Amino acid sequence: MHMQHHDREHGPPVVPVKFVLDDPEGLTGSDQKEHTLMGGEGESLLELAMEHGINIEHACGGVCACSTCHVYVEEGMKSLAESTEAEEDRVEEAPGLQRNSRLACQCVIQGKGPIQVRVPAWNRNAVKEVPH
Ligand code: FES
Repeated sequence: MHMQHHDREHGPPVVPVKFVLDDPEGLTGSDQKEHTLMGGEGESLLELAMEHGINIEHACGGVCACSTCHVYVEEGMKSLAESTEAEEDRVEEAPGLQRNSRLACQCVIQGKGPIQVRVPAWNRNAVKEVPH
């Protein structure tokens, strides 16, 4: 499914967001584990990652209707939009749930960062169980 990248206007890319990939090969086709990207206010972590070739799964297209975009926010939770009840209900279905679990499509950048996110290795496998 395609994401509507241009639906949302976002601010200048001045917020550092470090993505740590447990399965870099699967998500980017290279073995580079850490990627520091610059995000803009109003942009979701999913959009930011996708723009830079980090293919986090997003089976529902980024509308909080699956849990394949599950990530761990290791730093900078305060620089992201707060989790909604809908997101919490969804993320509970994700494998490997932790206290810092979020759905990347719902993590809209709101502060100055820095932000650090870990993308679990099973991000990529989870989608296979979701019917297309
Ligand atoms: S892409 Fe489906 S919930 Fe984020």
